[in-house]
Amino acid sequence: MDSIEIKGGVPLHGEVRISGAKNAALPILASSLLVEGTCTFENVPRLKDIDSILLLLEDLGCSVTRQGEGEVAVDAQGLNRTEAAYDLVRKMRASILVLGPLVARLGRARVSLPGGCAIGARPVDLHLKGLEAMGARIRLHHGYVEAEAHRLKGADICFDMPTVGGTENLMMAASLADGETILRNAAREPEIVALADVLNAMGASVQGAGTSKIIIQGVSSLKPVSTTIIPDRIEAGTFLVAGALTGGDVTVRDCNPDHFRAVIDKLRATGASVETGPDWTRVRGPEVIQSVDITTQPYPGFPTDMQAQFMVLLSMAEGTSVISETIFENRFIHVSELQRMGAAISLHAGNTAKIRGVKELSGAPVMASDLRASASLILAGLVATNTTVVHRVYHLDRGYEAIEEKFSRLGARIRRIR
Ligand code: UD1
Repeated sequence: MDSIEIKGGVPLHGEVRISGAKNAALPILASSLLVEGTCTFENVPRLKDIDSILLLLEDLGCSVTRQGEGEVAVDAQGLNRTEAAYDLVRKMRASILVLGPLVARLGRARVSLPGGCAIGARPVDLHLKGLEAMGARIRLHHGYVEAEAHRLKGADICFDMPTVGGTENLMMAASLADGETILRNAAREPEIVALADVLNAMGASVQGAGTSKIIIQGVSSLKPVSTTIIPDRIEAGTFLVAGALTGGDVTVRDCNPDHFRAVIDKLRATGASVETGPDWTRVRGPEVIQSVDITTQPYPGFPTDMQAQFMVLLSMAEGTSVISETIFENRFIHVSELQRMGAAISLHAGNTAKIRGVKELSGAPVMASDLRASASLILAGLVATNTTVVHRVYHLDRGYEAIEEKFSRLGARIRRIR
């Protein structure tokens, strides 16, 4: 498996183009299952998770074509299978996003349960409760969810907590259901709005996406679309943290700063200077990084997907910071590797980490455990003394496009070891 080697200590300078958002592309690609005909998508990032969903769509009978730089066409005319097999789903939890579209279009689906993952149990019970409320008969059998409904019916559904994947699955299912569906306490992430925009372009009627109440009027069929995937706010945030952390001057291009205001606020609180334009954001690192406290929250709060990267920044701050993780129960697995690099972090009850700033981190061989944890280890390597080798970068390739090329263009001494 590939590793990434970083010789730290270089302030990053320059501009980096942000890729299409993985977390927007995944549900949008899944939504092509709802349509008889060919949908085309631009700005689709080249990532392992995207390969996984495309493989799954092909396995279900869709024809998938990659046409040049970031363009993907999916034709679901030939959709003839209703089963998402364990081998495809276990590689990526977001495969559960085919459940809603399959039941809505074909009346049945059999999707392997994704199971646990490194950052916690991550159940899908809210997806299933919602489909049940829409009239689907759900059975858990041999590790699979089996769902069946002649035609789904609109329902009034209140989520116990805002779930991104659950909101997306039910928005897609409700688009082809009979009657009106109301989703309350819905997730409000920009990726939800992006999916709603695509569904509406397909001829669906989805109102209120981006608020906690989404109303969907079901229609009988949807038509093909051509659309462009929104920029990745987490990738943008990761490069901005890298710029601040190394005391550099980095501009991220082709991004939407409105999608990561909470991240910008926290960067400013650490003393970094941040300027924004309509589609760019520039960060200049502070002389001295200030400590700040962070609590992860559903959007528009501070994203859990930026927590690990900020922990590295705060490891180099003056004073002590506290990070509270409220979304996932086991999302501090990067801590032990950061401690091995000299970070002074202690874990406390209630999913809280205390980070006492240190003067330097020291390079070490480290092991990546999940996607954002991997990114945090790369960031730590960029600022650490000597050499850091991040092993098992498989996770990184799931969610960051050409990360070593992008960092090296900013001046980092970074290379992939195959
Ligand atoms: C999505 C993102 C992920 C991000 C997360 C939270 C994608 C592909 N992934 O994941 O990068 O970290 O949102 O912003 O978009 N929950 C339940 N029951 C359910 C569903 C969720 O209890 O049926 C819980 C989860 O365990 C978690 C919380 O709800 O504690 C939020 O999870 P959710 O928003 O569903 O995350 P994902 O959609 O899996």
